[in-house]
Amino acid sequence: MRVAIIGTGYVGLTTGVCLAFVGHDVFCLDSDQKKIDSLSAGHIPIYEPYLSELLEEARPNLNFTNSYAEAIPGADVVFIAVGTPPTPSGAPNLEFLSQAARSIGEHLDVGFTVVVNKSTVPIGSGNWVGSLLRDTCEQRQEGSRTEFAVASNPEFLREGSALHDSLYPDRIVIGADEPRALEVLYSLYRPILDQTFSAPTYLPRPEIVGAVPLLSTDLASAELIKYAANAFLALKISFINEIGLVAERVGANISEVGRGIGLDSRIGPRFLSAGLGWGGSCFGKDTAALIATAGEYGIQLPIVEAAKKINARQRDRVVEKLLHELKILKGRTIGLLGLAFKPNTDDLREAPAIEIAQKLIDRGVRVKAHDPIAMERFEKEHGSIGLQMCKDACEVAEGCDALVLVTEWNEYRDLDWELVAKKMRSPFILDGRHALDREKIMRAGLRYASIS
Ligand code: UGA
Repeated sequence: MRVAIIGTGYVGLTTGVCLAFVGHDVFCLDSDQKKIDSLSAGHIPIYEPYLSELLEEARPNLNFTNSYAEAIPGADVVFIAVGTPPTPSGAPNLEFLSQAARSIGEHLDVGFTVVVNKSTVPIGSGNWVGSLLRDTCEQRQEGSRTEFAVASNPEFLREGSALHDSLYPDRIVIGADEPRALEVLYSLYRPILDQTFSAPTYLPRPEIVGAVPLLSTDLASAELIKYAANAFLALKISFINEIGLVAERVGANISEVGRGIGLDSRIGPRFLSAGLGWGGSCFGKDTAALIATAGEYGIQLPIVEAAKKINARQRDRVVEKLLHELKILKGRTIGLLGLAFKPNTDDLREAPAIEIAQKLIDRGVRVKAHDPIAMERFEKEHGSIGLQMCKDACEVAEGCDALVLVTEWNEYRDLDWELVAKKMRSPFILDGRHALDREKIMRAGLRYASIS
């Protein structure tokens, strides 16, 4: 099938590369010519494991362009995967979405096209995109002969494991009010639903993956599924962080508690790791958008609101713990291990490291930091905070009064803790992710604490 994808961010680019890999003819469109030039030359603008390898394999089926006239006519399916950044009220900014819808409407060919919202968009956006497309088509001479249907196909990929999540998804959700659109998308996703493609060697098919479930539903339900899924995951993390506070007081081990409740198949083991809380571009934005949408209907969402409050409190708890340990923060040197909002990405959106660094600097602390891949980006986007970047964890430790593990990169799990302890002025580590081996660290002569 022929596919056009508008927007080459995380979602658009991953979707494009995966659909091209399973055999479709894909046009990835972005208005940023520089991005298109670099993608055409095989350079990936984001850090995502194996994306460049898969892009190379899929290259014969991939086209990069900034021209709607090239991408849209003849497409069976057009995905809209543009950004929907949050506005100060929490509601997402839909400017890029409306621009994309209008430009698609200006170029739709005669024949049937399914226009799919893949960006996370407020409930009702499917209808809205439909009306924008209709208005634009009606203004064209040949517009009356175009046929289209709008669908919602929310994305559930995680940064850092985006390709794995796209090729081996837990489920595919398709929302459309017209059966013809469902049929087209079913055909498009068939190789993934039936797992008939041959798996790349570097992304082997997990043994447990059989046929992938497809949920076909109406537009509004698909749109709500996306927000509800992210809100629930965010809630799960905040729940374990709330229980962590109790665990700390009663002397319980929150990692064991998480494991113990997660083994109940009704609860499930994932997203129960306590620590600094969630970051990234999705949970904060989507919980805020869900609260804003509910507000438009006069509904309050106290559970989702509480999840957000608990998440914010986890950042303050870092400062409280450091204060408790060091008594005075002014004039101290504190090192941060990890800057990205989670491992395997260089994404810094809502990364806990930014807020923690700022809170410490406001209290007169000198802050040193290291991250395996996000340092350059941090300097570019947040250089004004004034962190001292170091070439590795040992250099961070040099002269520090405390270290904070902010992002659980694998390379921090097996540090030479004796060497780290020797380099520090006062050997104390605050494990913000429950990722380190407490016994080993204490044997090496460091004091250890965690954020429960
Ligand atoms: C999240 C969802 O997991 C995806 O399903 C969804 O498609 C995506 O948002 C989106 O809406 O685009 P992502 O933000 O890439 O994906 O990252 P996650 O792996 O979900 O992690 C989010 C944050 O939660 C990270 O800061 C991570 O450190 C934190 N986290 C995760 C915890 O604090 N504890 C956990 O147990 C799990």
